[in-house]
Amino acid sequence: MNSTQERKPFFARLVPNWTSLAGAILVGSSWFAFFLLFTLDFFAVVKSPYLGILTYLVAPFFFLAGALLMLVGKIRYRVHARHAVPGAPIRSFTIDISQPRHRKILLGFAFGAAAFLLITAVGSYETYHVTKSVQFCGQACHGPMEPQYVAYQNSPHARVECTACHIGPQAESFVKAKFNGLHQVYATAFNDFQRPIQLSGKIDINQQTCEQCHWPKRHIGNVERSYTHYLADETNTLFGVRLLLKVGGGDPTHGPAGGIHWHMNLANKIEYIATDEKQQVIPWVRFTEANGNVTEYRTAEFKDDPSQHKIRAMDCMTCHNRPAHHFRAPNDLVDLAMSLGNIDPTIPWIKSNVVASLIAPRATQSEGVDKIASDLKARYPSTPQIDTVIAAAQDIYKKSFFPEMKVDWRAYPNNIGHKEWPGCFRCHDGNHKTADGAKKIAASDCNACHTILAQGNGLELEKLNPKGHGFFYIDAPNEDFSCNNCHTGAFPKE
Ligand code: HEC
Ligand code: HEC
Ligand code: HEC
Ligand code: HEC
Ligand code: HEC
Ligand code: HEC
Repeated sequence: MNSTQERKPFFARLVPNWTSLAGAILVGSSWFAFFLLFTLDFFAVVKSPYLGILTYLVAPFFFLAGALLMLVGKIRYRVHARHAVPGAPIRSFTIDISQPRHRKILLGFAFGAAAFLLITAVGSYETYHVTKSVQFCGQACHGPMEPQYVAYQNSPHARVECTACHIGPQAESFVKAKFNGLHQVYATAFNDFQRPIQLSGKIDINQQTCEQCHWPKRHIGNVERSYTHYLADETNTLFGVRLLLKVGGGDPTHGPAGGIHWHMNLANKIEYIATDEKQQVIPWVRFTEANGNVTEYRTAEFKDDPSQHKIRAMDCMTCHNRPAHHFRAPNDLVDLAMSLGNIDPTIPWIKSNVVASLIAPRATQSEGVDKIASDLKARYPSTPQIDTVIAAAQDIYKKSFFPEMKVDWRAYPNNIGHKEWPGCFRCHDGNHKTADGAKKIAASDCNACHTILAQGNGLELEKLNPKGHGFFYIDAPNEDFSCNNCHTGAFPKE
């Protein structure tokens, strides 16, 4: 080692030959790509978790490769220096533009580096767009997320990108999503995921997520909904219900605060404790009014100190938990196909036979589709319309049954109503009382949340009662509140 070498500028020491220079260019451009991707993603309105793979895996990989190349160059230089004839001057790495050979190499490097940078920039930007697209989320991990993707395509949010809901607007969820995206790639590659797939809870979908598009102050008022059902009897008797849902609104400046959307925590606050992961059991509820009044409700079985549990604030998700991936119950799907005429209601027992064929256990979706055809064909050998029925049943199956992922209507509770899942009755079941028992969360009035305008068959459905009918229970011996004790989504238990 001689003293002139010690005094060499930093860059010259770092880059003693062409190999190291190539490494340095690689290091430089991977930094460039990293910052480009990072900024793109940071300022994007809609974030992509998968971009993290590029930003935090691919860019660093090239960075390391470049660093390695620089090291190789350095070592080669050292070895060269050590084996040099004593006394002979050590050839230091200089680029001499007056030499034609150096000029050529340098020009090559300049072109190479420029092209590399351009490709990195364009490539990063393109990949960024691909990873944030709906197709990428739904199809790249084809197997595991297929059920959610199919359900989403048939939901009111089919035009909303996956990432709009799955990566919240907060910066914190941006970072979380990065790690979660990496985890998902790992999970898919190593087949390490639950069937049915569950949200990890690492990314919180909450009221802020929905409020990117939905204005919570909107006064919705009453919404009329008709439910058309067919009984599982020989004549497939029609049974319809017409409800006026009192959705109302939660903000007193835009309409009277009341009705179902009164819970939206605008003028008041509702908190609760759920004792299970899927939030189906809610034994404790606290209601804080705008004036500071606090009312605590609990079920008789719940004796714990609330502070030992996670206390959650009620928000959109407490009710609308399946806005994009609602796997509807076969009872409702067959009813819909019948009301549309895709399944002819005049075929004897067709309602119960189609439902039975849909819910039979199958190993794969294609097996299910084939068995539906052979099963219904065998039951109705001389019914000419049966081919249309089979096509309708198979369509239902393909959109709502995913045996490979163990997904159908049973996989995920839906909290919006109370027929197949506890839903509203998790709190409104008459068992949630104040400590003195004087007050309870309203329950028994069937016309509190909706008005039963009409129900039954044919002309009965025209007899509207603006004050609300008393519900007509079919086959149910008592007015048992827990509709979901009997109504499981396929055949009700008697
Ligand atoms: C309108 C908002 C919204 C959109 C858009 C959306 N999701 Fe979801 N997603 C949700 C909610 C809400 C849940 C359920 C959260 C819960 O139950 O805790 C969920 C759950 C999931 C789950 C976990 C399994 C399950 O069904 O609970 C997966 C996987 C998933 N979504 C994938 C996707 C994919 C892929 C897309 C785009 C094709 C997408 N989501 C679009 C809101 C959305
Ligand atoms: C990126 C925008 C966007 C986000 C985020 C979003 N929505 Fe929506 N949502 C829409 C649009 C647009 C519609 C109307 C679709 C139509 O009418 O065709 C809609 C419709 C709805 C409806 C009415 C559905 C029906 O059956 O008519 C509900 C309920 C709803 N959204 C709930 C939610 C909830 C809950 C969340 C949060 C998890 C959410 N939305 C997040 C854009 C969004
Ligand atoms: C004790 C069991 C039981 C309870 C509790 C019960 N039902 Fe039913 N329900 C039945 C049976 C059985 C039928 C007839 C089903 C058939 O023939 O397809 C039925 C039919 C219906 C139908 C029409 C058919 C259909 O497929 O939807 C509706 C709507 C309905 N019930 C709503 C409710 C509601 C809402 C509640 C709770 C307030 C409730 N039921 C509670 C047993 C019950
Ligand atoms: C207490 C339960 C509950 C909460 C909390 C709740 N909703 Fe609803 N919401 C309902 C019910 C029930 C309906 C009636 C229609 C239906 O079944 O979708 C409804 C209807 C809607 C509709 C459709 C209105 C229409 O024009 O048809 C939208 C949009 C909506 N809610 C958005 C939201 C948003 C956004 C939040 C959170 C800020 C929220 N909701 C909170 C229960 C709730
Ligand atoms: C986490 C518990 C909880 C759930 C789930 C819940 N509610 Fe409520 N609800 C309450 C509480 C608490 C009150 C206020 C009781 C009081 O007056 O002290 C209330 C009040 C109401 C009111 C009266 C509002 C007013 O104008 O004063 C309606 C209507 C209502 N709920 C409908 C529903 C519907 C529909 C659902 C399901 C989509 C539902 N709730 C789900 C806790 C809940
Ligand atoms: C806490 C509020 C609440 C109370 C109390 C309530 N309901 Fe409902 N009910 C709902 C909501 C919300 C829906 C709409 C769910 C959806 O389709 O979005 C619904 C839907 C229904 C449906 C149509 C379900 C279907 O799929 O056909 C029937 C029938 C019904 N309710 C009957 C009753 C009867 C009977 C009672 C009294 C025992 C009752 N409800 C009490 C909130 C309530």
